[in-house]
Amino acid sequence: MLGKMVAAVQTFACLVVLSSLQAYEATVVPRSQVNGIVRGTVYLNPILSVPENYQQIIWRFNKSQKILTKKWNQPESYPSGSFHTKLRYYENHTLEINHLQKQDSGTFRMEVEDNLSKKTNELFRLDVYEPVPKPRVNFTIRANEDGWCNVTLACIVDATQVTYHWRKNEKDLVGKNSSTLDVALKSESDASYKCIVSNPASEETGFIYYRSPCTWNEKNSAVPLSLARKTADSILAFGFLLLVHNWI
Ligand SMILES: *[C@@H]1O[C@H](CO)[C@@H](O)[C@H](O)[C@H]1NC(C)=O
Ligand SMILES: *[C@@H]1O[C@H](CO)[C@@H](O)[C@H](O)[C@H]1NC(C)=O
Ligand SMILES: *[C@@H]1O[C@H](CO)[C@@H](O)[C@H](O)[C@H]1NC(C)=O
Ligand SMILES: *[C@@H]1O[C@H](CO)[C@@H](O)[C@H](O)[C@H]1NC(C)=O
Ligand SMILES: *[C@@H]1O[C@H](CO)[C@@H](O)[C@H](O)[C@H]1NC(C)=O
Ligand SMILES: *[C@@H]1O[C@H](CO)[C@@H](O)[C@H](O)[C@H]1NC(C)=O
Repeated sequence: MLGKMVAAVQTFACLVVLSSLQAYEATVVPRSQVNGIVRGTVYLNPILSVPENYQQIIWRFNKSQKILTKKWNQPESYPSGSFHTKLRYYENHTLEINHLQKQDSGTFRMEVEDNLSKKTNELFRLDVYEPVPKPRVNFTIRANEDGWCNVTLACIVDATQVTYHWRKNEKDLVGKNSSTLDVALKSESDASYKCIVSNPASEETGFIYYRSPCTWNEKNSAVPLSLARKTADSILAFGFLLLVHNWI
C-alpha cells in the first residue's frame, strides 16, 4: 500500500518535472525561431529588456538592411524596401510582420542603443512556408483473400518539405512517417485512417474509411453527427407539435 503510494508520488513528481520542461521549451524556443505561412502574420516578441530612456531601436533584416528605426519619444520610421508596408511596431517593442512572402525568410536583429550609446541586440530567425494543402488518401489493394484485406494507403499532397504521420481510429501510429502506409485488416468491421501532413508552420489532414469486407471510402459512410442531431431535433419538434395538437 505504502509502496504504491510512494510510486504514485514519484510518478506525479516525474510528470511535473516533464511538463515544466515542456513549458520551458515551448516558451523559450520560438523567441529566436519563428515560423510563418505565406500571406500570414508573425510577431517577433523580444525578451531583451529595453531601458526606459533608450536612444534608439533599429531593426535590421539579414544583417545589413535597415527596416525600422524608432528614436525615443518619436514615431517610428520605416525605410523604403521590401518591408516598408508590412511592419507594425507596438509600444511593448513587439514587431508585427504582415503579408509574409517566402523571401522574407532570414534573420531579424533588434538593436537597442541606450542613452550612453551602449548597444545590445537580439536575433530572430524567421522561416516562411507555403501553407500545406489538403491531402487526399487513396488505396491500392495488395491482397483480398482468406479474410484478409491488405492494402497500401497513399497520402497525396502537392507540397515539398513536409512530414507525414498517420492515425488509426484516432490513435497515433508511432513511427509511421512515410507518405504511404501498409495495412492488413482481418477481424475489424470498420476503421478510420487519418494522414496528417505538416510543415513547421501549418498542417492538414486527409481521411479514408474502411468497412468490412475490404471497402474503402474517402467519405465516412456513417451518418455525420450534425445530421443525426438535426434529424433528432426535428423528430422532437414533430413530437411536440403532435402533443400540442392532441392536447387542443
Ligand atoms: C505586445 O503587444 C502585441 C499587440 O497587442 C501582442 O500581440 C504581443 O503579444 C505583446 N508582446 C508581449 C511581449 O507582451
Ligand atoms: C540614462 O538612463 C538611465 C536609466 O535608464 C537613467 O537613470 C539616466 O538618468 C539616464 N541618463 C541620461 C543622461 O538621460
Ligand atoms: C536572407 O538570408 C537568408 C539566409 O539567412 C537567405 O537565405 C535569404 O535569401 C536572404 N534574403 C534576402 C532577401 O537577401
Ligand atoms: C494512389 O496514389 C499513388 C501516388 O500518387 C499513385 O501512384 C497510385 O497510382 C494511386 N492509386 C490509385 C488506385 O489511384
Ligand atoms: C515521426 O513523426 C512523429 C510525429 O510528427 C515525430 O515525433 C517522430 O520523431 C517522427 N519519427 C521519425 C523517425 O521521423
Ligand atoms: C495480409 O497481411 C497479413 C499480415 O501482414 C499476412 O499475415 C497475410 O498473409 C496477408 N494476406 C495475404 C493474402 O497476402
